[in-house]
Amino acid sequence: MKSDSLTSLPAFRQLQEHAQTVAAWQMRDLFANDPARFGKLSISAAGLFLDYSKNRLDAETVTRLLALATACRLEEKRTAMFDGQTVNNTEHRAVLHTALRVPRSDIVMFEGNNIVPDIYAVLDRMERFTKKVHSGEWRGYTGKPISDIVNIGIGGSDLGPRMVCQALRSFHCPRPRVHFVSNVDGHDMSATLQTLSPETTLFIVASKTFTTLETMLNAGTARDWFLQKGSQSDLAQHFVAISTNTEAVGAFGIDPENMFPFWDWVGGRYSVWSAIGLPVALAIGFDHFREFLAGAHAMDVHFQNAPLHINMPVLLALVGIWNRNFLGMASVSVAPYLQDLHYFASYLQQLEMESNGKQITRTGKPITYATSPIVWGNVGTNGQHAYFQLLHQGTDVTPIDFITALTPSHSLPGHHAALLANCFAQSEALMLGKTEEEVKADLKALNMTANEVAFQTPHRTFPGNRPSNTILLPQLKPDSLGALIALYEHKTFVQGAIWDVNSFDQWGVELGKVLAKTIQAELENQAEHPHDASTSGLIQLAKSALN
Ligand code: F6P
Repeated sequence: MKSDSLTSLPAFRQLQEHAQTVAAWQMRDLFANDPARFGKLSISAAGLFLDYSKNRLDAETVTRLLALATACRLEEKRTAMFDGQTVNNTEHRAVLHTALRVPRSDIVMFEGNNIVPDIYAVLDRMERFTKKVHSGEWRGYTGKPISDIVNIGIGGSDLGPRMVCQALRSFHCPRPRVHFVSNVDGHDMSATLQTLSPETTLFIVASKTFTTLETMLNAGTARDWFLQKGSQSDLAQHFVAISTNTEAVGAFGIDPENMFPFWDWVGGRYSVWSAIGLPVALAIGFDHFREFLAGAHAMDVHFQNAPLHINMPVLLALVGIWNRNFLGMASVSVAPYLQDLHYFASYLQQLEMESNGKQITRTGKPITYATSPIVWGNVGTNGQHAYFQLLHQGTDVTPIDFITALTPSHSLPGHHAALLANCFAQSEALMLGKTEEEVKADLKALNMTANEVAFQTPHRTFPGNRPSNTILLPQLKPDSLGALIALYEHKTFVQGAIWDVNSFDQWGVELGKVLAKTIQAELENQAEHPHDASTSGLIQLAKSALN
């Protein structure tokens, strides 16, 4: 039986009817008719500012979206998550990443115990370790201090710390340098090792399961490389692990003393706040890491307590639901106008698409409505000179999240005003567009012939009415970055709650992993398996090249 649980709700139907009216609306008229629109459709929380006024909606639309959220029992589902109920019902796990960023004095009960002391025991160990590496007390096997850290992990065990380390470049301590190797492609590991010395390199093997093929292969390669110079007994100074799987860590040869644990109730893509954040702490120092956690906690407190109509993650999520389910927009672009948020789009891809890229409800029924849009993007202004043409004049309408900071973390004159001007100009241009009349007037002013004006006009006309949100940070700092990531985590949760999917499992990545194992055995001449003609042909070509 198909799930009609969402689409049969009166609140959903009322939004569908409303969308038919809204189809004729032009945002430029909405702004012209309501000078207070910006004030009405924007919100501040946890130090961030969200302007969602450049969307095809009005206060009535928001009211109807809020009614949908209520009909989907959003508040009840939010309570269930914060209370440690088994929200991840296919893996039978709670979802408590928010507990990782509470103050030490808070109490978070899970299965009858307060888990905050356990969380702080690990944070305290991370702090001691970070301080030892920074002070040079932690030394390599020849007595030299650690100069380089290599984080070996993939997915949530890579994207979070990689994105955050890059985002907080201005806060990096002089030592150690932090590198990330994720890809099973040996070019990644090989290029990284070429720049390093085994005497001064420390590897962090980060894997929740400690079974992920890419990570295990890369970790084995790193260990072999190290053992060319160091000995087995030196490994303890050069390898630490972050995992939930103590047994597998021991089997790999890492001393459990050198293992930083986390818990089943932390999903991989929600794990940067746990020991998985160790490379971040090493890069920016533990005081800044604490500020990062505190920024996320401020957003958690807001999300948990603010009424839905003044709740930033809820509003951001509902605008996304409106664009996706009622206006039919299939992808969402993210454009951070901050070079240091270079990896933010990749991070959001995992967060949103691995969480809500689902076609089955929580109770196992096929879904008849759209779930996660495709998330993609790159930093501005670079994207403007690559794909913004399509955003302005392409046949698909793609909503965009613009993200920027009011104050830069550098002192170069001129750059930041230019950056902000471009960011605001893009959202204005996408919203306003440029009418035929406006184009013609411009072209006539250039003294073009009437024929040339007629020919040029359609090419230079912009449809406009293209939606965007703008998120402003005061400055890209540990606390504001923490709040920004938590904003998107909760947005993802709210959308999953409305779409009635389990946002915390990821069965869709399993099939490819299983087939890859089979094919690898074939490429290494250890097995033969029947395949379709295309896969067989490709395997044969690869075998002749490899053997
Ligand atoms: O491939 C999916 C996935 O399970 C992600 O959800 C996860 O973040 C990643 O693999 C890495 O997993 P692990 O931390 O267990 O190595």
